[in-house]
Amino acid sequence: MDVLNLHELEALAKAKLPQMAWDYYASGADDERCLRRNLEAYEAILLHYHVLVDVARRELATTVLGERIAMPIAVAPTAFHRLAHPDGELASVRGAGDAGTLFILSTLSNTPVEDVVAAASGPVWFQLYVYRDRAATAALVQRVEAAGCRALVLTVDAPLLGRRERDVRNRFGLPPELGVSNLHAAGYAPVPAAGGESGLAAYFATLLDPALTWDVLPWLRSITKLPIVVKGIVRADDAVRAVTHGAAGIVVSNHGGRQLDASPATIDVLPRIVDAVAGRGEILLDGGVRRGTDVVKALALGARAVLVGRPVLWGLTAGGREGVAAALGVLRRELDLAMALCGCADLGAITRDLVTP
Ligand code: FNR
Ligand code: LAC
Repeated sequence: MDVLNLHELEALAKAKLPQMAWDYYASGADDERCLRRNLEAYEAILLHYHVLVDVARRELATTVLGERIAMPIAVAPTAFHRLAHPDGELASVRGAGDAGTLFILSTLSNTPVEDVVAAASGPVWFQLYVYRDRAATAALVQRVEAAGCRALVLTVDAPLLGRRERDVRNRFGLPPELGVSNLHAAGYAPVPAAGGESGLAAYFATLLDPALTWDVLPWLRSITKLPIVVKGIVRADDAVRAVTHGAAGIVVSNHGGRQLDASPATIDVLPRIVDAVAGRGEILLDGGVRRGTDVVKALALGARAVLVGRPVLWGLTAGGREGVAAALGVLRRELDLAMALCGCADLGAITRDLVTP
């Protein structure tokens, strides 16, 4: 699968997907300002490249929580991959493995976690939504651990679902044959369309726990040995709270602009968070990463790695496993070139002075 860049992949996916699925993947909350802000913030950041550095060989491999990955680009958790392709999450995890990187599986996958881990050739982490039904949540965590996932990613920016007006207009819901596979046993699999709102918003409002506090971290640590990464932070004080409550890492994220539309762009808040955490946990970032130079900027400002959400869904739509590998491959190729042009032969050479000389 041959695409010039991620914009081309996006156009292929848009042409292929039914309106309801396209809108679900593409949309942000309210006026979609945050969705745009995440992208535009990268335009305002420039790279003050070094010259006359030997960049004949570039080393892109790194680790996240001790897990070796071929590049500092991994797959963000996104729901409902079978809306994109019949092979759903199985194609996605195989594509991530082909690219040598980490796959984060959403709680809201259309494929059970055991099947996804069995198809994986790289590490798999599990993104957790905490249900009001704590017993069902604990059972899910046990399953995830037994299946072989290597970390839990606790998403904390969605006590309720943001209002995606396109989904309201489309009365978003899943056909009965697609559901939240991981929650079949608990009876929480169906996500039907809801009168007057998005079916997913109704699902969140009725089943997920909007009363979570920082106490959820000691609770999770009491039921699992897996390291916990807290996803959805845009403030330095919350980042520090996460690590002092035992998180091994955080994802600086505003959910790709799908939750609070007035959230700052993630790349803009990253340096403050990195300074405040001061090495007490690993810091990942997502939201609007579309070019290799965006990855360089995020790493320069202190991220260990970035995650990509929508581009993986575009690849999955356009070409299944190969399409996912192509999306990740485009970013890898661009990162490799950007490093050469910045005078950085390895990731350690990507330091903050590239952005603020
Ligand atoms: C998401 N995201 C998300 N996050 C999460 O923790 N659990 C989930 O189930 C989902 N589902 C989901 C579905 C879709 C269609 C999208 C676009 C996003 C958020 C995701 O993990 C990530 O934060 C953003 O997608 C990153 O922004 P980009 O790369 O899409 O700009
Ligand atoms: C979303 C949820 C599922 O962003 O996280 O659609």
